[in-house]
Amino acid sequence: MTFNIASHGYKDDFCLPEQGSYLLSHSVGRPLKSAQQAFSEDFFNPWQEDNAEPWQHWLKSIELFQSALGQLFNHSPECFCPQVNLSSALCKLVMSHPRLTKPSAKILMSELDFPSMGYALRQALPQCQFVFIPNELDITSLEVWNRHLSEELDLVFISQVYSNSGQQAPVNSVVAATKQLGVLSVVDVAQSAGLLALDLTETEPDFMVGSSVKWLCSGPGAAYLWVHPKQIADCEPKDVGWFSHENPFEFDIHQFRYHHGVLRFWGGTPSVAPFVLAAHSIHYINRLPIGLIRQHNLRLLSMLHNAFAAQIVSPKEPSQCSGTAILQFGDGQNRVIEALKAAKISVDVRSLGIRVSPHIYNDEADIEQLIAVIHNAA
Ligand SMILES: Cc1ncc(COP(=O)(O)O)c(C=O)c1O
Repeated sequence: MTFNIASHGYKDDFCLPEQGSYLLSHSVGRPLKSAQQAFSEDFFNPWQEDNAEPWQHWLKSIELFQSALGQLFNHSPECFCPQVNLSSALCKLVMSHPRLTKPSAKILMSELDFPSMGYALRQALPQCQFVFIPNELDITSLEVWNRHLSEELDLVFISQVYSNSGQQAPVNSVVAATKQLGVLSVVDVAQSAGLLALDLTETEPDFMVGSSVKWLCSGPGAAYLWVHPKQIADCEPKDVGWFSHENPFEFDIHQFRYHHGVLRFWGGTPSVAPFVLAAHSIHYINRLPIGLIRQHNLRLLSMLHNAFAAQIVSPKEPSQCSGTAILQFGDGQNRVIEALKAAKISVDVRSLGIRVSPHIYNDEADIEQLIAVIHNAA
């Protein structure tokens, strides 16, 4: 089944530049037009207008954020703990787990993972041994993963997709393999949440970290940590606060007891504003027909694959590609970049090439224009 995006008017739901096109959803997704009103209603109004303190209303928004994530990832809302960003979530997580803080712990990750993930892990676990899958190996291949997996590992870090190479890891199979080996797994969905499905009930990794700033169009600051219920009891976070307490209102400075669930990772007084925006926008995304964003994304990516077969350096197979096409024009690269800039087509450039990420608010006309501008320049 194919969808006609134009006839559904999804594009009209988003704030978009008046000229040119925006193809940077791998960096920051566009806000919904309704976001400002939702923010006023759920953040400012209870603060400005009500006589009572706004916490009750604000905490309701955080519950809405958790329930939106529950629906998106098909798991219980209570298993998601709000976090500021992935680096911080990851740091808290690994420092909390006895299997990872022991002197001989060993972690497998990829050189293609987002660098901040490596920084956080290494600083949090200075005693740990790190093994990296080299970036020249094909991270989309289960065979490559299998060559690096072993019972000696304690944790495997898996990015569902890789921002700078446009590749997709075989997440479900890698997680299944870690389970067979008795190794912990953590999945990073920063670059895929809202675009690619991850069914936590089916895949059951041990942990997942993500944010809402990219395909979920929610702005920065609304990140999350998901912990499998069977792992909770083993996690004893060091970075805690009264919202991590079993009873935040007990107020006995001599008594700290962990919250029974994942909220033990919450910490002190939580931020609220990013989660109000994210609850609104993830609920919008959840109401779209299942698979619509990816289906539309693949359709627009295939226009790029057809137009630039030789210049696309990211995978073309739907099971291997992220939402981003990466284009490399060699000597013509700077001319292409300048021409796109002049045409107000927003893309960015990393070591492998120009990154182009079509979301639901892009259409065929955006991609046709981009192709025409590149053809004129290259
Ligand atoms: C795969 C991946 N992980 C993590 C991050 C960001 O991590 P943090 O929220 O700590 O900045 C990004 C940012 O682009 C990313 O692409």
